[in-house]
This record gives sequence, structure tokens and C-alpha cells, in this order.
Amino acid sequence: PTQQDLTGQHWVITAGPTMEAIDPVRYISNHSSGKMGYALAEAAKVRGATVTLVSGPVNLPAPSGVHLVAIKSADDMLTACRAAMTSPADVFIGAAAVADFRMKDVATQKMKKTGDSDEMQLTLVKNPDVIATLSQEKAAKCMVGFAAETQDVIAYAKSKLERKGLDLIIANDVSRTDIGFNNDENQVTVLSKDQQWTPPKEAKPALAVELVELITQHQSQMS
Ligand code: PMT
Repeated sequence: PTQQDLTGQHWVITAGPTMEAIDPVRYISNHSSGKMGYALAEAAKVRGATVTLVSGPVNLPAPSGVHLVAIKSADDMLTACRAAMTSPADVFIGAAAVADFRMKDVATQKMKKTGDSDEMQLTLVKNPDVIATLSQEKAAKCMVGFAAETQDVIAYAKSKLERKGLDLIIANDVSRTDIGFNNDENQVTVLSKDQQWTPPKEAKPALAVELVELITQHQSQMS
């Protein structure tokens, strides 16, 4: 749709991986390319929304007309999202693949291969759950998460919908090599408390248009 029916709405979207430092030269991350989140940002912008895109490190150009906030860690992502939503946004979409853990203590110098041991241990601590925290803080009127799963996709997605206090969750089977992380295409199932939709497998930009439409329809049911 070319109509600007989301004019006046603020959508905050996260995309890409987070990068958790181990030492000055190493990090923990994942395979998210940011393509899904960037496509959602573009689709919401095209319909007239003011879009803030909080993005981990990716190799994608900044979409024009979108307010891009570049971050690295999960902690930074939470801080940036809160700063973007000092008054509640209309929609928050968590498309980012946020690292669940970070180093307990980031080494200030490059870690050395000292001693004779063939093993090394890193002590990790839990990161904040960005979307669950924002949902508790009522940062947006409509909270939409993704669920990246490799088994029992729908059941796990449903439990995340409830546990994280979300309005919608987009279940993504990331065990498939033809969709999900870093692919140009994706296939998902969108779940609310009592409904579900499975749009066809398609290119991420086309899927994003359908997801924005589904979210918009859900929004109008909520109010
Ligand atoms: O980036 P692409 O290459 O295009 O790939 C798209 C994608 C597969 C990354 C994306 O579609 C997707 O599934 N994103 C969610 C990835 C993920 O981390 O899912 P999860 O099931 O671990 O997390 C569930 C939800 O909680 C997500 O909305 C996630 O953003 C959020 N979360 C998770 C952990 C955490 N500490 N904070 C969070 O906010």
C-alpha cells in the first residue's frame, strides 16, 4: 500500500545481532544479518510511520527516512530503546537476535594463551531481556516479538508470547537452511493469544509488508 495511513505513529524496531565483547579484539555474536528488521523498518516507513531502527552491527545501508541508532551490546540496545520511547511508541518490534549472555568481566587487555591447558573457560552472565523489560515498562502500546526456534516452534513461540508479555509473536523456524538467519527469504507464523496466520514463504521485503499489515490490523482490534 502506498497510502500513508501510519502517519503520526511511532514504530521502534530492533534488528541485527548484538555483539558482546570478550576482550578488546574478540566478541560473542550470532548470524543475524539484519535483513528482516531493516525490511520491517522500510515497510512501516513507506506507510507513513516515524521509524526508529535500533540496529546491531550489520552490513546493510541505512534505510533513508528512518532514524537509525547503531548499537553493539544488549545493554546498549536496551538503553537506546528506552531513549527512543520516553513517551510510549505505537509499536515495538523485536527482530534483533539479542545475545542471552555476555562476559561477566570483559578483559581490558587481549587474553593470552598462557599455561599448558588445552581448555579455557569464560564466565558469562545473563543479559537483560530487552523486549520483556520494555513490555513491563509499557514502552509501546503494541509489543511484537520474534521467536527463533529450532524445534517445537509454535509451542515455544506461544510460551515466549506469554512470558514476555507480548501482543504478537512471529515464530521463525531457524533450523531450516532456506529461511531465517541471513537468508533473503523467510517464512513465519504470526501468533496472537488466540489466532495464528502463516503467510507464504517470500522475500523479506515482501513478507515485511504483510507483517506490517497484520500488526496494523491487530492494533485496530486492540483499541
Ligand atoms: O537478521 P536476519 O538475518 O534477517 O534473520 C532474521 C532473524 C532470524 C534474526 C529474525 O527473524 C528473528 O527470528 N529474530 C529473533 C531472534 C531471536 O533472538 O529470537 P529469540 O527467540 O532468542 O528471542 C525472542 C524475542 O526476544 C525476540 O524478539 C528477541 O529480539 C527478544 N530478546 C531475546 C533475548 C534478549 N536478551 N532480549 C530480547 O529482547
